[in-house]
Amino acid sequence: MASNKTSRRKGAPTVAILMGSTNDWDVMQHGARQLKDFGVSYEARALSAHRTPELLADYVRQCVSGGTRCFIAGAGGAAHLAGVVAALTTLPVLAVPIPSKHLGGLDSLLSMVQMPKGIPVATFAIGDAGSANAGLFAVAMLAMSDEKLARKLEAFRTKLADAVKDAKLPELS
Ligand code: RP5
Repeated sequence: MASNKTSRRKGAPTVAILMGSTNDWDVMQHGARQLKDFGVSYEARALSAHRTPELLADYVRQCVSGGTRCFIAGAGGAAHLAGVVAALTTLPVLAVPIPSKHLGGLDSLLSMVQMPKGIPVATFAIGDAGSANAGLFAVAMLAMSDEKLARKLEAFRTKLADAVKDAKLPELS
């Protein structure tokens, strides 16, 4: 699936974005967009904890040995993906609950947020906002050791603040 061009280390993306199904991409692309806009290399792959467990484990190990710094994992329903990734690495795992057909993503959220003590995943909001914020959180983690990225993140926040300051509410009719 999608990846941008500038890998930090040969062969492994700085951030690996995983999702349980290609159908999750509509949501997960929002995190990818943030990483792309900040110039952080990423690779996005659909790999399932349930349907392709061996492939998933191979990929996670490849990323870890290649120098990947963190994982973003989106899944819906039983949503074990982030937890399984966290079981395979001590790198940070950011979990994005995908809205599900019958329960709207509350199932995904509760599944992700209820990791047992000892194997944490950082769980974000359900859907597009959570996906974008997972991307931004990955940027924030990387910015701790990258001054240029930290400055970009400050500028991004300033832009958000300016949009609020400049906003005009509609007149009453
Ligand atoms: C999960 O099951 C995926 O993350 C997806 O959100 C959900 C449904 O998968 P599909 O039936 O859409 O492939 O594994």
